[in-house]
Amino acid sequence: MLNPRLDLLTDYPFDRLRALLDGIDPPEDLEPLFLSIGEPQHPPPPVISETLEATAGLWGKYPPIDGTPEWREAVAGWLERRYGAGDAAVLPVAGTREALFMSGMLAVSEGGPDQPIVLIPNPFYQVYSGTAVMAGAEAVFLSATRETGFLPDLEAVAEETLARTALMFLCSPSNPQGTVADLAYLKRAIGLARQYGFVLVLDECYGEIWDRTPPPGGLEACRALGDGYGNVLVFHSLSKRSSAAGLRSGFVAGDSGILARFRRLRSYGGATLGLPIQAASAKLWADNGHVEANRALYREKFDIAEAVLRGRFGFFRPAGGFFLWLAVDDGERAARELWARGGLRVLPGAYLAREDAGGGNPGAPYIRVALVHDPDTTRDALNRLVNIL
Ligand SMILES: Cc1ncc(COP(=O)(O)O)c(C=O)c1O
Repeated sequence: MLNPRLDLLTDYPFDRLRALLDGIDPPEDLEPLFLSIGEPQHPPPPVISETLEATAGLWGKYPPIDGTPEWREAVAGWLERRYGAGDAAVLPVAGTREALFMSGMLAVSEGGPDQPIVLIPNPFYQVYSGTAVMAGAEAVFLSATRETGFLPDLEAVAEETLARTALMFLCSPSNPQGTVADLAYLKRAIGLARQYGFVLVLDECYGEIWDRTPPPGGLEACRALGDGYGNVLVFHSLSKRSSAAGLRSGFVAGDSGILARFRRLRSYGGATLGLPIQAASAKLWADNGHVEANRALYREKFDIAEAVLRGRFGFFRPAGGFFLWLAVDDGERAARELWARGGLRVLPGAYLAREDAGGGNPGAPYIRVALVHDPDTTRDALNRLVNIL
């Protein structure tokens, strides 16, 4: 009776983790620590509550789908400063998750002789496969392993696959490994999107959480190619940049023709951002100080992680993002042990990946550890992890 495609959606990773740990009690003498969810625990900038309070009279109004002039100016200013791309078309979204989920509906057309393909890095943010499934596409998973530098090998994708591709997702810095795609890689992906006529979605929601150098972005790569923003959509969010996951505020930018269609789709089913949220978001995009402070805090935690974990579990210091991707042989077993013996909740890497063509799950030997707490809590958690594993 219901849409049969719903049965093709696997349980979400956090539900699988709950099931895995169900019935296991953490030690009574240790405070349980949650390192499984990528939800920054850094205090959100005070400008959010100040602005929400100052603009509270606007909650009664329906917000404009295109964003207020102040919001648009702030986003364009940030895109210009960060990527030299202040002229790109933009559309506000209520957090990038819902818009990423809508991108399958935007890009996948059914009814032709071949089933369209959605290309997805493996492991990956689960919404990518969700939208592929619900849009009726075939999801093709591109392994992103240590051997491929933790990004899909673009040259390994078969011509027949590219010819059927409607949509490709890439994430940089990537979740879970924190790998940054360099400008050459981004240009190559854009070149393929243009050659084969598919939509390239670049999920850059960790683009402001970086260690040594700012990751390049898709719009920057378009600028370098010098031929507009055709075929490219980049997704940005305040959830990580401003530690404001609850604000539900992000945007999509890039190809103006695609965004015009996306706007029409979103005028039917997209969530708009309330005017006070747009006002607070404009203030956040215009400010870099709180982002610097945020980055410094993550650096401090990666220093701690490096001191505690260097030489163990295949530790590497990621170029961006705030996750550790640790090789522990069997991620599910490690997650159970860490909860049972250390009160630590981490995510088995298998839940973020799918079996590849060879039948192996590239995430299975890993756990993902989110460094979202304060430095002392992080040190405590990592010491517990080392002692147990
Ligand atoms: C890779 C990636 N993309 C998108 C999102 C969605 O973020 P939001 O909807 O808060 O903007 C997340 C959140 O964890 C993520 O890890």
